[in-house]
Amino acid sequence: MTTASLPPSLIATLPGEHYTDPGIFALEQERIFESMWFCAARAPELAKPGSFRTCQVGRESVLVTRSRDGSVKAFLNVCRHRGAKLCTEESGEVRRAFQCPYHAWTYGLDGKLVAAPNLTSMPDVDRTEYGLVSVAVREWLGYVWVCLADTPPSFEEDIMGAVVERLGDVESIDRYDIDNLQLGRRITYDVKANWKLVIENFMECYHCATIHPELTEVLPEFADGYAAQYYVGHGAEFGEDVQGFTVDGSEGLDRIPGVADDQDRRYYAITVKPQVFINLVPDHVIFHRMYPMAHDRTIVECDWLYLPHVVESGKDVARSVELFHRVNQQDFDACERTQPGMSSRVYAKGGVLVPSEHHIGEFHAWVQERLLP
Ligand code: FES
Ligand code: FE
Repeated sequence: MTTASLPPSLIATLPGEHYTDPGIFALEQERIFESMWFCAARAPELAKPGSFRTCQVGRESVLVTRSRDGSVKAFLNVCRHRGAKLCTEESGEVRRAFQCPYHAWTYGLDGKLVAAPNLTSMPDVDRTEYGLVSVAVREWLGYVWVCLADTPPSFEEDIMGAVVERLGDVESIDRYDIDNLQLGRRITYDVKANWKLVIENFMECYHCATIHPELTEVLPEFADGYAAQYYVGHGAEFGEDVQGFTVDGSEGLDRIPGVADDQDRRYYAITVKPQVFINLVPDHVIFHRMYPMAHDRTIVECDWLYLPHVVESGKDVARSVELFHRVNQQDFDACERTQPGMSSRVYAKGGVLVPSEHHIGEFHAWVQERLLP
């Protein structure tokens, strides 16, 4: 069905092949995930020099680490000798260098080649030239963002700009002081669905009344189907009897001091393309990162962040974690239920978006534009 033949209430989605074709996924890896800023890791995971984290960015494995001068560095996780994967673990700590498990080429925390068997008998080998290939890195909101492009796009425009587009200004997120919050809980979900289904789901609330009973109890306006992301600067208000953003509406944890009065008792949601969702409530922040692994598989790492004293004192965060954990499960179940339909003949030309979902059409246009040659 083409848009021209649709009634005005409906607009077309992407055709099913955008969710099922490995060739389109490969193009997205190249033109989206390897070209844009990508949120790779939480900065405090790299607490000291030698702490590291590896992750999948597009088709590449990326190694993020902290060097001796305290700065965060990111490299392609590939040995310059014969191409073995350098760090095979997802996270860990080395004392002073990364050693390739194949022939023992050894790289300093700054990426420079520092040792290799018989290296001294090859004085013509430039140790910087044969060091690890570095990629651009930025720290913001307590997270490490990397960019694999030779010329990275503007971080201010793309990443900070996405926050400003949703909240109206950057101060509105600064008040949550996300840099200094602490990880209370992390849950990793292995979702058998295309990454765009996960984004589209996050962008709309047409499904909220059907699949999110606990969430609509806390945020009654979500029952009407309009997501917080439909508007600029709008936070969904807690229900009258609701005390906190918890699974049963019971009292939450200590409020983040910078949160303004007009942000209190409200929930804000931000999609930072291509792979981050940020949820703001007065006492915590829920920070999702997607790692697209295949056309039909997306790993989602979700962090619940609280004030340091809340985490350090061992306060019970279970009821507040439980609310969004359930929301995540409900959402990811829906995405997994949708993935098989993408290869059905029914969806060959796509589906339709109702008015409260029309903004998803802009996301689809954006994806298509990125894939143009
Ligand atoms: Fe790494 Fe040979 S491939 S040392
Ligand atoms: Fe949802």
